[in-house]
Amino acid sequence: MKRTYLIGASTAGHQVEGNNIHSDFWAMEQMEHSTFKEPSLDCVDHYNRYKEDIDLMKNAGLNTYRFSIEWARIEPEKNKFDINEINHYKDMILYCRQNGIEPVITLHHFASPKWLIVEGGWEAESTIEYFGRYTKYVIEHLGSLLKYVCTINEANMGLQLAHIIKDRMAAMSNAQVGFQLPVEFFKAGEEAKKVFGGVADVNHFLNQRTEKGDEIISRCHVKAREVIKSIHPEIQVGITFSLHDLQVLPGGEELAKTEWDEELLHYLPYIKDDDFVGVQNYTRKILGPNGKIKTDPDAEMTDMGYEFYPQALENIIRSVYRDTKLPIFITENGISTKDDNQRVRFIEIALKGVDACVTDGIPIIGYAHWSLLDNFEWMLGYAQRFGLIAVDRKTQKRYPKPSLEVLGSYNK
Ligand code: BGC
Repeated sequence: MKRTYLIGASTAGHQVEGNNIHSDFWAMEQMEHSTFKEPSLDCVDHYNRYKEDIDLMKNAGLNTYRFSIEWARIEPEKNKFDINEINHYKDMILYCRQNGIEPVITLHHFASPKWLIVEGGWEAESTIEYFGRYTKYVIEHLGSLLKYVCTINEANMGLQLAHIIKDRMAAMSNAQVGFQLPVEFFKAGEEAKKVFGGVADVNHFLNQRTEKGDEIISRCHVKAREVIKSIHPEIQVGITFSLHDLQVLPGGEELAKTEWDEELLHYLPYIKDDDFVGVQNYTRKILGPNGKIKTDPDAEMTDMGYEFYPQALENIIRSVYRDTKLPIFITENGISTKDDNQRVRFIEIALKGVDACVTDGIPIIGYAHWSLLDNFEWMLGYAQRFGLIAVDRKTQKRYPKPSLEVLGSYNK
């Protein structure tokens, strides 16, 4: 049965396009002591093969595609904008439209121009102006073709990483820190500083964030929204967050409150004037009096080491709507697995949850599954399989998986 909300898939430029050579991640992947398992290189060549990929989506019945604009392509050098690159994204958007697919763009999905990091990256006040200027350029050229824009992907990710690292460090003695962290990790840190012009700290987006950095990112979002609305007030603007379904055991209430505040609530002042919230969810987290409860050894797991728990999506949608009262776009939800039957089961349970939320009157704009293609999973390289479509990277041939058809069938 055709749904009242959009159904489609999601990607990020750096993870699928290939040769994002002016970006910070490209630079870090190429380092001698890189902490990336492998470099992205040609990736899955979506830059040149997007038409084929959009055709596959259309044929399966998908009607939305969320992808990111790569800032490093648009502004490869500070204040030098590349009209050919903006035209590339214009062509992609037009091709989506011609095929009945609603394009949803993300202005920033983890990768940044290398020059931005040299200037202080995501801890520097100046980034707010730079992000506003880049947004203006993109919206002036593409805005008339767009209905939905996500400003920043997983704005809360750096804060989450800061806590994971702090907790792990706290659990180790100084000697253990030296022993357990590979020497390569320290060498990579030193090399990165050189690569980015001798900066004291390499503040790329997936670095652990300070409170100040978190505020800067939030203000980047507000700035981008203001710029977009001043040019095209009709565009629906939102930010996206990485959100866990936080389940509480007796004694874990305080911790759950703190985590929820950190994941979502403290951003409310910055997003209250938004048109929607981008919800990104992969699993649940159970909290007890002493922190996160270890996953049951018998639980079904995904290849990322997360518990298989697609029911989390419904729970998180309900929590986000309760606390924001904003329409929701599920901008990411998915599973890394080599077993496509497991992905199909994941989709079926997740969408049952979305349907239940719709029945209860929660405004859902769309569901974009992560991910359209097997892709470059950042530091983990190409081994993870999140895609609805497999790719042989030697030939770049596409192999749609049954899950693509299953997802599309929700639209028929
Ligand atoms: C990110 C994606 C990533 C996915 C799977 C999200 O945190 O937005 O870029 O590939 O999760 O790990």
